[in-house]
Amino acid sequence: MNRERNELRSILRQKFPRSRGQLLPALHFLHHEFGYLPDWAMEVVGWHLGIPSSEVYGAATSYTELRINQPAEHSVRVCTGLSCWLNGGNRLMAEAHAALSDGKSSDKVTLEETPCAYMCGVAPVVEVDGEWRGRVDEGIVSAIIGEVSS
Ligand code: FES
Repeated sequence: MNRERNELRSILRQKFPRSRGQLLPALHFLHHEFGYLPDWAMEVVGWHLGIPSSEVYGAATSYTELRINQPAEHSVRVCTGLSCWLNGGNRLMAEAHAALSDGKSSDKVTLEETPCAYMCGVAPVVEVDGEWRGRVDEGIVSAIIGEVSS
């Protein structure tokens, strides 16, 4: 772990000047590298930029595109923004909860909710492993979860 921390410190020194304004670019960089924001990596970013960990964590949890938990092998994201909600996004979310063992995840699937994916014209939308699908009908989300879980 120390080796990883030292490598990350070195990369951050090369890529990001030590300024508060670099927090979001650094968090996006980490997210791109790891697929989520590990606690230890957020600590290193805070140390590099001179920002308290609580502030780094606060920023990381304020943006829906940033994950702080390691996702399962597959991710399903349901939009529950207004357009999607009015077109059945709430029912898709309920369907997804019902299809997962603990309502939020299974060994293979992580379920997430997003406030608006900016594709309101084809609402309701669902993202499966990075690929968005529009005008999703009921029954599709549980079928997708069943498919990726097998
Ligand atoms: S509300 Fe779902 S894409 Fe905008």
